[in-house]
Amino acid sequence: MKRLEARPYREQKQPELLKRVDRCKHSLGRAPSLRVILVGSDPASALYVSNKERLAASLGIHATTIRLPSEATPESVRHLVEELNTANDVDGILIQRPLPSSFSETQTLLWIQPEKDVDAFHPESVGRFTLGLPGFAPCTPDGCMKLLDFYGYDVGGKTACVVGRSSIVGKPLVQALLRRNATVIHCHSKSQNLSSFTQQADFLFVATGKPGLIGKDHVKPGAVVVDIGISKNTAGETVGDVLFDEVATVASAITPVPGGIGPMTVLSLMENTVAAAEARITLLKNPPA
Ligand code: GUN
Repeated sequence: MKRLEARPYREQKQPELLKRVDRCKHSLGRAPSLRVILVGSDPASALYVSNKERLAASLGIHATTIRLPSEATPESVRHLVEELNTANDVDGILIQRPLPSSFSETQTLLWIQPEKDVDAFHPESVGRFTLGLPGFAPCTPDGCMKLLDFYGYDVGGKTACVVGRSSIVGKPLVQALLRRNATVIHCHSKSQNLSSFTQQADFLFVATGKPGLIGKDHVKPGAVVVDIGISKNTAGETVGDVLFDEVATVASAITPVPGGIGPMTVLSLMENTVAAAEARITLLKNPPA
């Protein structure tokens, strides 16, 4: 059983990303820049945000987090996003989720202009990705595909099963797999007899946030299992949706939690931020007539 870790991918990719960041600094006179908006004090979000800051710093990307109290109004956050949308020294904007219940999460998806939408959550970004038009790729599905590519797997013509239908992961992951010619089975919390579907999968992707949902009886012998869940167990350890030790007895490969898809997602976010800065350079060189 092979552990599909993010670290070797990052080590291979880092020199090229550092070069791209340097070129941006040369052309723009500043580093690619990302603004993260964090509302409230959700502990998991605080951890994600500090991971983003740490990776950005190691790549020379300027990432700052704007921390707002949970009482911040949707109106005040929308105004902030509007200011960042027009700021010339901001390439990418991200609103960390989940948001406090006073926010309509779907409404907030419209706020960040598509050129700065490095999460690829805006309906225009979602449409572009679904249609195969140029634009940012959603970070978690992109991280999954890059990790599989790196370890030499091709989902083309194979059966992939996605468990979870969130707008952030499950739905765009189905699109990413279709783009790569996989045959996709999409399951969710209302699917009956889950294991009858997951057992068909050559590639099983699990993104439910339910620790231990997937055991060995859900997995086809020799399957590749991609665990996208991140939760804390009662002992305070970070765990995925897959019972790793049990599934390791039947799967041919598994992405570990932590150290698998989590860091791949943050890397894709950094690649999108650099791409946003590069697009700004292109625009400066060729201003619209
Ligand atoms: N919360 C959990 N994952 C993500 C993510 O990828 N982007 C944002 N904005 N919030 C998240």
